Amino acid sequence: MTVIAVIGSQWGDEGKGKAVDFLAERADYVARFNGGNNAGHTVINQFGAFKIHLVPSGIFAKNTTGLIGGGVVIDPTVLIEEIEMLNKAGVGVDGRLWVSPRAHIIMPYHKILDGLYEEAKGAGATGTTRRGIGPVFADKVSYNGIRWTDFASDRFEQRLEVQLTLKNKIIAALGGEALKREQVRDEYRGYYEKVKPYLKELFSLVQDGLKANKTFLLEQAMGSFLDTDWGTYPFVTASTTIPSAASAGLGIPPKYIQNVIGVTKAYTTRVGGGPLPTEIYDYDSDVYKKFGEVAATTGRIRRVGWLDLEIVKTAAQLSGMTEICLTKLDVLSGLKEIQVCTGYKLNGETVRYADVDAYGLDQVECVYETFPGWSEDISKAKSFEDLPINAQKYVKMIEDAAGVSVKWIGVGPAREETIRR
Ligand code: GDP
Ligand code: IMO
Ligand code: MG
Repeated sequence: MTVIAVIGSQWGDEGKGKAVDFLAERADYVARFNGGNNAGHTVINQFGAFKIHLVPSGIFAKNTTGLIGGGVVIDPTVLIEEIEMLNKAGVGVDGRLWVSPRAHIIMPYHKILDGLYEEAKGAGATGTTRRGIGPVFADKVSYNGIRWTDFASDRFEQRLEVQLTLKNKIIAALGGEALKREQVRDEYRGYYEKVKPYLKELFSLVQDGLKANKTFLLEQAMGSFLDTDWGTYPFVTASTTIPSAASAGLGIPPKYIQNVIGVTKAYTTRVGGGPLPTEIYDYDSDVYKKFGEVAATTGRIRRVGWLDLEIVKTAAQLSGMTEICLTKLDVLSGLKEIQVCTGYKLNGETVRYADVDAYGLDQVECVYETFPGWSEDISKAKSFEDLPINAQKYVKMIEDAAGVSVKWIGVGPAREETIRR
């Protein structure tokens, strides 16, 4: 059997959506296991261009079944809208998209609290997506969550009542507006009716699939360094983003996860607060303009930096990466010189990512190596040999540093703009 985890090796937005879309052709199941609709995964293929937040990006492959595991937190409005959008685009998800009833639901008070907490933190804010992610995961682990399974009885109403009593007090204390019980109840009952046809306990389906040697593609949301434990805490997200999360979030024993594809951007981006050692601040520079991106979920401008090999290497070690999918190599075309961070110094000493916390990482000095660039447009390259020699050297340098081979190279945003080695 083949269980393949696709993970981001930086701070998110590495191009996981595109990678999962082109890998899904050969997958029986494509599954999300962590995070929620804070994720924004871009897919560009024969159906059109999509920014997907909850449905696995591999759903476009017609023989694939999409799974949203119990480890995912769901804003029903986003899920319903996404299902409608995909059906309208001719993707046809009915009968092949299943949502775990164990998944926790993002309630209106989670979104309100996310915003109020951020505002209270002022300059120290995390820069969240304000989708309610931190508060819903906090409720999950403090036994205050509401799950789809609660709708099967009057438990939903009972739990909602308790939560609204608690949350309205906090919201009022922070200067927000209290929520009305009947309104929330009726609204969410309506959402449940729409989501109901997609709810299915995934345990037997996953176990039978593993037994029958089916191929599972596990689509991580966010990146390795937004992980609650291993990321740049407190500038992280509220879920585990390393492959072990797929075990809890989907019910796949860890021993099955033998392939880990690390999606790695040829430079670095980050959205929100927190350290970014290779950050480029010269906003008028060519490089800054080239690397610039708009966030898929919030529409914010992403912060940009040079490739950080210490980050990629640490991600490879943390996740047991077996292959790299390098994305956006085409974006580097036209740069005379390319800087790459090969390691960090702090007070004259070499330090690794894990030796410092987020505040220490903000203080490290990057050791840079300069690589010669290439001027050719590489977006039409079909093989590694089609790439200019300096681009080939850049790829090999990443392999050497990470100790992992680069198996796919992205030369454009569309599915077919990918070199397979
Ligand atoms: P994800 O969250 O990891 O799925 O990544 P996002 O979709 O948020 O951001 C990645 C961005 O890079 C999107 O705009 C993609 O369309 C784009 N992209 C992905 N791979 C490539 C590539 O190889 N070349 C170019 N030019 N764009 C790419
Ligand atoms: P994908 O799956 C990039 C960041 C936010 C913020 C921090 C916490 O598209 O790669 P949260 O709303 O999760 O509480 O915000 O995490 N963040 C992401 N950054 N890509 C993502 O997802 C992200 N999901 C969350 O910007 O800094
Ligand atoms: Mg994204």
